[in-house]
Amino acid sequence: MQSRFAVLQKRNDIQAAAPAAPAPEKGVSQILPSSRKAAAAAEPAKVEGAKTSSRVLDARVRIHRMLIEEINLVALERLPREEMRRQVSDFVAEKVRAERLALNVAELESLIDDIVDEMVGLGPLEPLLKDPEISDILINGHNNCFVEKKGKLTKIHVPFKDEAHLLRIVNKIVGAVGRRIDESSPLCDARMLDGSRFNAAIRPIGVDGPLVSIRKFSKNKLSLDRLVDFGALTRPMAEVLAAAVHARKTTIISGGTGTGKTTMLNALSAFIPEDERLITIEDAAELQLQQPHVARMETRPANIEGHGELRQRDLVKNALRMRPDRVILGECRGEEAFDMLQAMNTGHEGSMATIHANTPRDAIARLEQMLGMTGMPMTVQSIRSQIASALDIIVQLTRLSDGRRKITSVAEVTGMEGDVIQMQEIFRFVRTGTDSDGKIIGHFEATGIRPRCLEDMRAMGIEFPGKYFEPGRPQE
Ligand SMILES: Nc1ncnc2c1ncn2[C@@H]1O[C@H](COP(=O)(O)OP(=O)(O)O)[C@@H](O)[C@H]1O
Ligand SMILES: [Mg+2]
Repeated sequence: MQSRFAVLQKRNDIQAAAPAAPAPEKGVSQILPSSRKAAAAAEPAKVEGAKTSSRVLDARVRIHRMLIEEINLVALERLPREEMRRQVSDFVAEKVRAERLALNVAELESLIDDIVDEMVGLGPLEPLLKDPEISDILINGHNNCFVEKKGKLTKIHVPFKDEAHLLRIVNKIVGAVGRRIDESSPLCDARMLDGSRFNAAIRPIGVDGPLVSIRKFSKNKLSLDRLVDFGALTRPMAEVLAAAVHARKTTIISGGTGTGKTTMLNALSAFIPEDERLITIEDAAELQLQQPHVARMETRPANIEGHGELRQRDLVKNALRMRPDRVILGECRGEEAFDMLQAMNTGHEGSMATIHANTPRDAIARLEQMLGMTGMPMTVQSIRSQIASALDIIVQLTRLSDGRRKITSVAEVTGMEGDVIQMQEIFRFVRTGTDSDGKIIGHFEATGIRPRCLEDMRAMGIEFPGKYFEPGRPQE
């Protein structure tokens, strides 16, 4: 009986072992010269390690600063690349002489390359974008910047010369993906060429100058196995969730911003059988489904005249005309909930979505609200019964105060009693304390309730040891 699960396990391994996703490989680096691209690929992050002489590094920083101060960058950036390099090269050669720096030809050339790269690339953001340990870059005006590394936010100094410098880089990013941002439309949410999610709010919305949030695209999305290794859930929980997804149990991932919803959705989607046709709908395509048959759609904001907007709801409706087996909605947050639930109730079981909520109960309440927003004449009772019959599993994610992300609850929706949606918790994370470093201490446990959907899974040949659901048993 376990053998059936081996199929799931295998898929899991494949994903874990899979090299970088086949997704868009163009990268921010598309607007970077290839030399730098190669170097960055070969040795990410600490490229400029101990060996590179600090003398050259210092010189680079200083000369680059002089260049920014003394030269009309805007004009320089408009030049053809060859011409730009020649001008930068003259400038650098002159400064190197003036500063009496003893550089050999190779060092001089690489210094010029670096500086040109800075000009063509995203300036002070480049090293942050290349550092694989950084997952988020958050800028609140040019001299107030934070990065997230391993779940922890840290303030850092990013050498923007002034607000205009930052704004120029924002424009560059936005322009590279065919979007715009200015005083009349000061908000922009876009996907960068490398797949990273980019959001900017400039004046007058950004009171202290440009607000920029970049959620970096991670090439190796965490697989379910890795999430188990990270302690986000236990192996038994992972096996049950994987099997539920495999067996077309409609699953909703609930959590706050940055709790790992998209990551979990992506990891679980690996267990959808390969012969199904999947349609994904997102505001900014982040999911990296591994299946061969995936059709990806992205919403579109209105153009400058206010026309042409394509919202999630439009895309969900359209997706249903595209013969999907399952629809995967990046984030359900409004009127599209109605169409999504209809889909889930009419032959597209196993569809998945994330939702912004703090508990499984709260997720249901949110859905109710969203359905109410649709303006359809529906009674509360009918709204609830739609929800109850559509959903099977709700996975709740939480980011603990120590920065770690965990599944804090797995609940099963079992139906209606009167006009109340019935839910039962299957697994949960129990906090027992905090250690001296502020790290949360706790364990996962089963509640003792055997999920109803086990029967359907058994019919598909997937069975679990009874001990997986034994109550109070601290699960590893
Ligand atoms: N269990 C986890 N452990 C460590 N990092 C995680 C975990 N889950 C997600 N992450 C990281 O956290 C960040 C936010 O995850 P994401 O899935 O985009 O969150 P959300 O969709 O909830 O906003 C990403 O950089 C992701 O790689
Ligand atoms: Mg997300």
